[in-house]
Amino acid sequence: MTKIGVYPGSFDPVTKGHLDIINKALLVVDHLIVAIACDTTKTPLFTAEERKEMIEFEINHTLGRNKAVEVKVFEGLLVNFVNSCGSSVIIRGLRAVSDFEYEFQMSCMNTKLQPNIQTIFLPASEKTHFISSKLIKQVARLNGDIKDFTSEFVLDKLKSKLKNQ
Ligand code: PNS
Repeated sequence: MTKIGVYPGSFDPVTKGHLDIINKALLVVDHLIVAIACDTTKTPLFTAEERKEMIEFEINHTLGRNKAVEVKVFEGLLVNFVNSCGSSVIIRGLRAVSDFEYEFQMSCMNTKLQPNIQTIFLPASEKTHFISSKLIKQVARLNGDIKDFTSEFVLDKLKSKLKNQ
């Protein structure tokens, strides 16, 4: 039986940290759906379609058009989306102990809403654990160098988005 996992997030924009988690997730599930949430507590810089385009580009270029990964945008509750995908596994990355409280709370809420759904936490690699979309946007806004944290494709999208703001 194919084990399907859902990796949800804002991905605003996708970073090398997210790609690290996607690679690790493929070691534990057969098929991974990277799920871009429309409903989050954050106000995104990029539209959901722009975020999807960037993730798809990254997957095609760094994972070599991996058929085991697809990217979808979803609205509403994550657990409903996970169910609709025929999955019961949510994948989330943990960068530091400080992430844990928020992640633990979300995983408990999701399991309370849908008891068949469990969250698997994957640790970020030592090379990426300090990378976040929020920080790279801040560094880029202040003209700092972010090329180690994301790809040139995303970097260009970020520059032009910030210029047109
Ligand atoms: O990358 P983020 O912003 O930390 O991801 C948060 C995300 C998208 C996983 C969370 O906001 C979410 O699941 N949103 C969908 C709406 C939902 O189900 N909310 C209740 C979560 S307990």
